[in-house]
Amino acid sequence: MTFRARHLLGIEPLAPDEIVTVLDLADRYVDLNRATVKQSDALAGMTQINMFFEASTRTQASFELAGKRLGADVMNMSVAQSSVKKGETLLDTAMTLNAMHPDLLVVRHPASGAVNLLAEKVNCAVLNAGDGRHEHPTQALLDALTIRRAKGRIQRLSVAICGDIAHSRVARSNLILLGKMENRLRLIGPPTLMPPGVADLGCEVFEDMAEGLQGVDVVMMLRLQRERMDGGFVPSEREYYHRYGLDAEKLAFAKPDAIVMHPGPMNRGVEIDGTLADDINRSVIQDQVEMGVAVRMAAMDLLARNLRDARAARAGEAGMMA
Ligand code: NCD
Repeated sequence: MTFRARHLLGIEPLAPDEIVTVLDLADRYVDLNRATVKQSDALAGMTQINMFFEASTRTQASFELAGKRLGADVMNMSVAQSSVKKGETLLDTAMTLNAMHPDLLVVRHPASGAVNLLAEKVNCAVLNAGDGRHEHPTQALLDALTIRRAKGRIQRLSVAICGDIAHSRVARSNLILLGKMENRLRLIGPPTLMPPGVADLGCEVFEDMAEGLQGVDVVMMLRLQRERMDGGFVPSEREYYHRYGLDAEKLAFAKPDAIVMHPGPMNRGVEIDGTLADDINRSVIQDQVEMGVAVRMAAMDLLARNLRDARAARAGEAGMMA
């Protein structure tokens, strides 16, 4: 098993063998999660704090469950009622929590780069649960696990990522991960929703769904992130659905066994047809949620091992000095 990272801040710093290590361990946690007794002691005695400065359902719930199933003490800091509302800075909040000796800190924040900054200041392992439009590493890992289980591999696949790519940390982390694993990537969406420098990303870019979906193995849909838009990026939701909303008709351009993904939360009738989203023969959206818990268990388990090793090494050094 290879996993050298001290924090999980993004997919960018991970090597392909580290990604495979997370996925392999997560596969084992899928089995544990399907058993009646879902308990392991991988994080026994450790404290995990979840700090979510942005709304979340799936990510926060799965980090909480993941920590509890591994035996950690899990605390959810409720930001809405915290001193953040009184103007405390992110770093002050983090330093306050750091003084309580957490072992794992799970952070979601609207500012890109905020989680990296925080990781430099604390003594525990930090997991990025989404920072602005930068990265959302556990989402890309759970998507990779979902794809690997559905397709039998995570290499040499043709993957289309569709919709609001410009504002999406999910798209960014997925592009990095799928690129590292040597897949063929396509981006489909209106030019207003493409990130700057899209031509340098090494993907094929399409404005038209029928063209872009031609022969792909995986169709990944994204939510229109209106909270990150400050102007008229799309004409109307109706028009957007007509051109970019995934329905059975557009999906017919992909391979007959292509899978449909969406990180959630979904806007039914905006980026995806509700019936298609619920079609268990094509949609793996519920599998993504299931894989989310297992991947977060694997990531926290691996980080906890590194944390224990680093602390033991430091204690050893201190012993030698004494
Ligand atoms: C995503 C996020 O927060 O980045 N949701 C998630 O974590 N499942 C995508 C989104 O908000 O659209």
